[in-house]
Amino acid sequence: MSQAKDIVLVVGGGGREHAIVKALSQSNTIAELHAAPGNGGISELATCHQISATDIADQVDLAQSLACDFVVVTPDDPLALGLVDKLTAKGIKAFGPSAAAARLESSKVFAKELMNKLHIPTAEAAIYKNDTEALSSLNRCSFPLVIKAEGLAQGKGVIICSNEKSASKAITDIMQERKFGRAGDRILIEEFLTGPEVTLMCFCDGENLLALPSSRDHKRIGEGDTGENTGGMGVIAPVPEMSADLQQQIIETILQPVIREMAANGTPFRGILYAGLMLTEKGPYVIEFNARFGDPETQAVLPLINNDLYTLLKACVDGDLHKHRLAISNEASCVVIMASGGYPGKYETGCEISGLDSVEDVYVYHAGTVKKDNKFFTSGGRVLAVSAQAKTLSQAINKAYLEVAKIGFDNCAFRRDIGKGFVE
Ligand code: AMP
Ligand code: GLY
Repeated sequence: MSQAKDIVLVVGGGGREHAIVKALSQSNTIAELHAAPGNGGISELATCHQISATDIADQVDLAQSLACDFVVVTPDDPLALGLVDKLTAKGIKAFGPSAAAARLESSKVFAKELMNKLHIPTAEAAIYKNDTEALSSLNRCSFPLVIKAEGLAQGKGVIICSNEKSASKAITDIMQERKFGRAGDRILIEEFLTGPEVTLMCFCDGENLLALPSSRDHKRIGEGDTGENTGGMGVIAPVPEMSADLQQQIIETILQPVIREMAANGTPFRGILYAGLMLTEKGPYVIEFNARFGDPETQAVLPLINNDLYTLLKACVDGDLHKHRLAISNEASCVVIMASGGYPGKYETGCEISGLDSVEDVYVYHAGTVKKDNKFFTSGGRVLAVSAQAKTLSQAINKAYLEVAKIGFDNCAFRRDIGKGFVE
C-alpha cells in the first residue's frame, strides 16, 4: 500500500464539493485535505479556508502556502478565469480544464460553432451581437424558442420564450439592461427541442475518456417540473432510458469527436466533460456542455463509483486514463435536495438543522450549512443533498425519502416527486 503523503486542496463549497471531499477522504494516499471555501459538512473532513472560489490570486497563494501536491478546481467561474492554468504555471498539478478548454461551457457560441463544425446534433441557433438585429429577427421566428446569453450566468442565462413579447423582453434584459453583464455580449436564439433530458459526464485526460453513469437533474422548484429553475432539486442515476447502446452512441458520436477536436486545436480537454442531452425523436441532441462535475448530479453518481477517486483525477491530469477502468456499482441512486423555503427567491438562513445524527445508510452532503458549537445551521438556498443507493431505483427513492423525513429545519422545502414517472 502506498503511503499517505499528498496534500490536496478542493476549490469550492457546495454539495458537489462535499461529495468530492468525502470520496477523496477515503483515499489512502492523501495525508491532508483542504477546501476553500468549503462549508459546515466539509469542515468535518477537510480544513476549510475562507477564500472565495473566484479569488484566483488568493487561491493560488493558498495552494502554494499549503505546499499542495494537487488541487481540484470544480466550479465553472474559476475554471473560466484560468485557475487551472495559473496553478499549472506555478508547478502545482490541478484537475480541471484550462480556460481555453473550459470555453466549451463558458462560451455557448464557441460550443455551438464546434458542434456545427463536427455535425453533432444540437438545436439550430442564430448568433447575435447586436440587439436591434436580434429583435428584428423575431418576426421570422416560430415559437416557443430559447434565448441564451453566451457566457456564464449562474444557471440563469437560458430563457424559454413562448411568444414574441417574452422573447423581446429576454433580448432587452440581456443585451440592453445587461442583466448578466458581459455574459450577454452575444446571444443565441435557438430552436426549442423536446424530449427527456439526460446528463452524461466523463473523465477526460485530453485524449481518452471514461463515462460515469448517466443521471437526470430535476431543475424546477415545483413538483411536476413546474415553477422557477433552481440549481437542481434532485437527481436519479442511472437514467432508465439510457441503454448501453445509446450511451455508446453518445460517446462515439458526441463526446469522442469533441475531445479529438479540442486536442487537434491545441486546447486538450482534461477534467470532467459534462454533456447535457435531450433524447429527441430524432435521437440524442446536445443542449449544453459543462466543463466540470454537475451539481447535484455528482452527489448521485460518485457513490456509484467504487474506484479511488484521487487515482482517477490524477490520471486525467497525467494523461494516463487509458490505464484505468471504472468500477461502477450496479445499484441506482436518488438524491433529494432539502432547501430553505422561498428558494430560489428570498429565504431565511441561520436555522438549526436537527436529525443529522439519526440518518442511516445514506450520504448527507452539505451545500449551504455552517457548523457552530458542534451544531449545524442553514446558510444557503440549497442546504443538504440526501443521497441514497439501492438495488433498484424505486428502492433508492424510498430510502432517500425515509431519511429526509428524519432531518428538519424551519421552513424546509423539498420536492416529493424526484424520480417519479421513471421508476421501473
Ligand atoms: P442550461 O442552463 O443550458 O442547462 O439550460 C437550462 C434548461 O433549459 C435545460 O435543462 C433545458 O431544460 C432547457 N433548454 C435549454 N436549451 C433548450 C432547447 N434548445 N430546447 C428546449 N429546452 C432547452
Ligand atoms: N446540474 C446542472 C449543472 O451542474 O450545471
